[in-house]
Amino acid sequence: MSRVHTANEAGITAAVDALRRGQLIGLPTETVYGLAADIANEAALREIFRVKGRPSEHPLIVHIADISQLDGMASYVSPACRALVDHCWPGPLTVVVTAAPHVSRVATGGLDTVAVRLPSAGAAQEVIKRLGNAVAAPSANRFGRVSPTTAQHVVHDLGDDVALVLDDGPCEIGVESTIVDCTKPQPEILRPGSITPEDVRRILATTDVDLADGISGPSRASGMLARHYAPLANLVLHEQQATVPPDGSPVVDCATDPIAAAHDLYANLRHLDALGHRIVHVIMPRPEGVGFALRDRLKKAATAL
Ligand code: TXA
Ligand code: MG
Repeated sequence: MSRVHTANEAGITAAVDALRRGQLIGLPTETVYGLAADIANEAALREIFRVKGRPSEHPLIVHIADISQLDGMASYVSPACRALVDHCWPGPLTVVVTAAPHVSRVATGGLDTVAVRLPSAGAAQEVIKRLGNAVAAPSANRFGRVSPTTAQHVVHDLGDDVALVLDDGPCEIGVESTIVDCTKPQPEILRPGSITPEDVRRILATTDVDLADGISGPSRASGMLARHYAPLANLVLHEQQATVPPDGSPVVDCATDPIAAAHDLYANLRHLDALGHRIVHVIMPRPEGVGFALRDRLKKAATAL
């Protein structure tokens, strides 16, 4: 009766069958849960945009199960891109490359570039392998809201619009993948994640890595919109515990243990929303390690409309 299937043999079989029928599924990855469709089914890809309430020009990430599939998606893979995927895949890195002609322009939002990621999560890999096709998947939340990190979050957000949710427990990392635009001579980080700018610079043995900080142009990541990842409560950001007023509002500490804070952040924000809190204080992590991505998400979640 339930649409939530444990990510065991039977659950994975059911998930692959649903994708083959052209349905959308909730797919666990190491970052957040995705809303996945078979890349070969354009009607299903269009349905992702409808369900998310996502503008059709906002491209999706194409998820693959084997590094060799990148060459099938890309018309060119730069040496820098090759170095990044060799180091980081499978894992929370998305690369933007020039799209091969056959890649669906529904998935790319009409762009001639495509975002590709090879997740480390076993369930995601298994589903993609058995399907025999890549799957396109944005985060499985309504557009602009907080990403889901459990199967229950997906059901809560998308209700009957998702045919099946594969449940593999809470996501290991809890913030979305690092996106690196590899289409230009100098790679640019469009969205920080648990793979940090320092990691990217070290892998490429160069300091010539741009870090996007604004919003412009159609090829920009939707996570670059000023307000995104937003809970209902107003977040008040503090660099120090000392500035948190004793006003009785809840406090989310992201400074003491940023890795644990990233793992729990979206679940915490959802929980505090469900309790009806209007104001939530957040103690910011230092801008290092996953703290870099946390600061990015928190600033976007805090920006007033
Ligand atoms: O960790 C993740 O990346 C998760 C899991 C499910 O894999 N996915 C995710 O997808 O966060 P989504 O749609 O919420 O964010 C994908 C981002 C968007 O901001 C989109 O604009 C950007 O990737 N993107 C996709 N294709 C792009 C392209 N060709 N050029 C620039 N940005 C692109
Ligand atoms: Mg998203």
